[in-house]
Amino acid sequence: MRASHMELLDQWRDTVVRDNQRTYVSKLSGKEFEMSLQKTCGDCHSNKAEFCDACHDYTAVQPYCWTCHLEPQEAP
Ligand code: HEC
Ligand code: HEC
Ligand code: HEC
Repeated sequence: MRASHMELLDQWRDTVVRDNQRTYVSKLSGKEFEMSLQKTCGDCHSNKAEFCDACHDYTAVQPYCWTCHLEPQEAP
C-alpha cells in the first residue's frame, strides 16, 4: 500500500468512471471491496488529517482529490 496506493486509486477511478464497475476483488485474499475513496479507504483510515495528510505533508505531496470528494468523518 505504501508504494502503490496512488496507482490503485487511479485504477479504481478509471474503472468506476469509464466502465461503471464498482466492485474490486483482491487478487491476494479474494475479498471484495467497493471501489470508493471516501467509503472504503475512509472506513479503515477515518482520520485523514493524521493518517493521509501527515505523510503527504512530510513528503510534500498535495493530492487535489478532496476539492470534490468528501473527507471521511471520524466516528463519534
Ligand atoms: C473535479 C472533481 C474531482 C476531482 C478533483 C477528483 N475526483 Fe474522483 N470522482 C469525481 C466524480 C464526479 C466521480 C464519479 C462519482 C461516482 O460515480 O460515484 C469520481 C469517482 C472517483 C472514484 C470512484 C468512486 C468513489 O466513490 O470513490 C475514485 C476512486 C476517485 N474518483 C478517486 C479520485 C482521486 C484519487 C482523486 C485525486 C487524485 C480524485 N478522484 C479527484 C470527481 C472528482
Ligand atoms: C480493511 C481495512 C483497510 C482498508 C479498506 C484500507 N486500508 Fe490502508 N491500511 C490498513 C492497515 C491495517 C494498514 C497497515 C497499518 C498502518 O500502517 O496503519 C494500512 C496501510 C496503508 C498505507 C501505508 C501506511 C504506511 O505508513 O506505510 C497506506 C498509504 C494506505 N493504507 C492507504 C489506503 C488507501 C488509499 C485505501 C483505499 C484505497 C486503504 N488504505 C484502504 C487497512 C486498510
Ligand atoms: C506513508 C506515507 C503515506 C500515507 C500514509 C498516505 N500517502 Fe498518499 N502518497 C504518498 C506519497 C509519497 C505520494 C507521492 C507518490 C508519487 O508521487 O509517486 C502519495 C500520493 C498520493 C496520491 C496521488 C497524488 C497525485 O496527485 O498524484 C493520492 C491520491 C494519495 N496519495 C492518496 C492517499 C490517501 C487517500 C491516503 C489515506 C487513506 C494516503 N494517500 C496516505 C504517501 C502516503
